[in-house]
Amino acid sequence: MPLRKNPPSKTRNGPRESTLVLEGCRVWTPTGLITASVLICEGRIARIGHHLPGNAGETLRVRGLVAFPGMIDAHVHLRDLDLSYKEDFTSGTAAAAAGGFTTVLDMPNTMPPTDSATRLDEKIERARRKILTNVGFHVAAVPKAAEVTRMSRLGAYSLKLYMPKPISPLNIQDDKTILTLLQSSVKSDIGVTVHAEDQSVIRRPDIKESGSFIELAKGRPEQAELQAVDRILRLAAKAGSYVHLAHLTLPSSIVAARNYRHASTEVTPHHVFLSEKTIKKEKWKAWMVPPLRSERVRKNLLALLSKGLVTMIASDHAPHTIEEKRGAVAESPPGVPGLETTLPLMLTLVTRKILSMELLVQLLSSNPAHVFNLPRKGRLAKGFDADIVLVDLKRKTRIRPERFHSKAKYSPFENMTVQGRVHTTIVGGSVVLQDGDIVGKPGSGRVMKRGVLG
Ligand code: NCD
Ligand code: ZN
Ligand code: ZN
Repeated sequence: MPLRKNPPSKTRNGPRESTLVLEGCRVWTPTGLITASVLICEGRIARIGHHLPGNAGETLRVRGLVAFPGMIDAHVHLRDLDLSYKEDFTSGTAAAAAGGFTTVLDMPNTMPPTDSATRLDEKIERARRKILTNVGFHVAAVPKAAEVTRMSRLGAYSLKLYMPKPISPLNIQDDKTILTLLQSSVKSDIGVTVHAEDQSVIRRPDIKESGSFIELAKGRPEQAELQAVDRILRLAAKAGSYVHLAHLTLPSSIVAARNYRHASTEVTPHHVFLSEKTIKKEKWKAWMVPPLRSERVRKNLLALLSKGLVTMIASDHAPHTIEEKRGAVAESPPGVPGLETTLPLMLTLVTRKILSMELLVQLLSSNPAHVFNLPRKGRLAKGFDADIVLVDLKRKTRIRPERFHSKAKYSPFENMTVQGRVHTTIVGGSVVLQDGDIVGKPGSGRVMKRGVLG
């Protein structure tokens, strides 16, 4: 679909160079799917309708495609800094754009970790020059209340509490320490994102050279999540703090979180599509934490998701190199890339009539926008940001990790046929991905700061 360049039309205010028209697509609006054109001015949606002013600027012919609000992934490890060999801001956001994501929230377990306002500032400055999509940052949960306040003021999206092994020194098994942390999050008006697996339950099995990934996974049983979720919800209720529970794998976790007003839940595509059987088959390609569960648990989790009882889907895009992953089992780092498979996988659930399209848009766009306070995102309507993904819903594609934009070119979903192809991704009115190719320039994306309207 070629980009037709009209000469910039002169208005009283001079040339309208930042105007773009998406001509004749189907548009997913809050009132349903309509056939219309979309007028984008200065990075925002100016109008959705039939009779848009001709000669309005650049026109993108998008007939046959469906325009959705840009997808938002609240759980992504973009790495960069000293871990740039695994992924960097440019490769990670290229993967995001290729997967239909226009905004991602980056995790703080980097090297160095994002555990102070200074480090957050440094990360922001580096990202500014390299990103292709919008990127916001989670920061490490740190014990010092003053630092929490500073990071919150700088626009961090949440404090990440990694219960198996906190990023910052924190006595994780001590209720009082966690309660104090949750209380300081309330004072600083910032939520806490939790990796809920209880440290005391996790066993690092003594794996010999012939050891298997199944053994490794068994060291992180369901009980670890059960106990951690129970504990964090109990302490959050005491503190009155907001908790976002990352990559939940158990139906009981979802049910427990729904009983607490200030909690949101997140599930990954791998935990609803795959189970232990895949660990046996794909080995290091299917090794992540929390690990894949039994087929029974997977089915029940998917049932809750399809009923609309989960707040959001996130990829937990966690790239490592193939060399690191397929080395000695005991040393293999957990985590799989997910940015380029998440949307097609979810669209496949729509085709299979397990999810409605409406629910898909909630899970991947409007709910994360709401929970993480991303105003003007999550829907296509006048005045909203022109973060748009154009999808060819009819196209089936095969997952080919060697074609990923991510540096991590492997996937537990390799060779699976999925529904829908991300054709074009528009971020703040600029085309970043066109016909599957990255056309945006590093640095064209925007750093997002919570509570700051750009
Ligand atoms: C993540 C990583 O590699 O950073 N790995 C993973 O298996 N999910 C860490 C995490 O999200 O817990
Ligand atoms: Zn985690
Ligand atoms: Zn993660």
